Amino acid sequence: MSVIYVLNGPNLNLLGSREPEVYGTFSLGDLEASLQSWALSKDQTIKVLQTNSEDELIGWIHAAIKEKSSVVINPAAFTHYSYALRDACAALTGSGLSLIEVHISNPHSRETFRHNSVVSGVATGVIAGFGIDSYLLALEQLSRR
Ligand code: DQA
Repeated sequence: MSVIYVLNGPNLNLLGSREPEVYGTFSLGDLEASLQSWALSKDQTIKVLQTNSEDELIGWIHAAIKEKSSVVINPAAFTHYSYALRDACAALTGSGLSLIEVHISNPHSRETFRHNSVVSGVATGVIAGFGIDSYLLALEQLSRR
């Protein structure tokens, strides 16, 4: 079984202290612990990564393509404007691999600039608004595919 990449974009390292009324009080470490416990229960290997760099995030998508791995990605603010990230995601899904875009909050219920995702159009699916469960639902879905 191949590894599933769980990728997190900018500012998600601040989970727990960043706008807790929007993103909750769990830290990135808590998020990873919860996802790793799901992975253990499914005998699935996952790599949970976070970066504030667009370059690094795209590099991990290229690695996933090379390894034929599925991806769960919270692109954070890159969601709304990074065509470079979109192109990398399109390369992944275009090669037949699955990519699920996730968000902790529901961007559609927030500021107008968050309503558009440049990634959604090339994603296999999108899950938003369920906190940590957005990631767990995405992993669950990938495990069924
Ligand atoms: C987010 C929503 C984005 O609009 C925002 O820029 C983030 C987090 C979410 O998980 O709800 O950083 O992707």
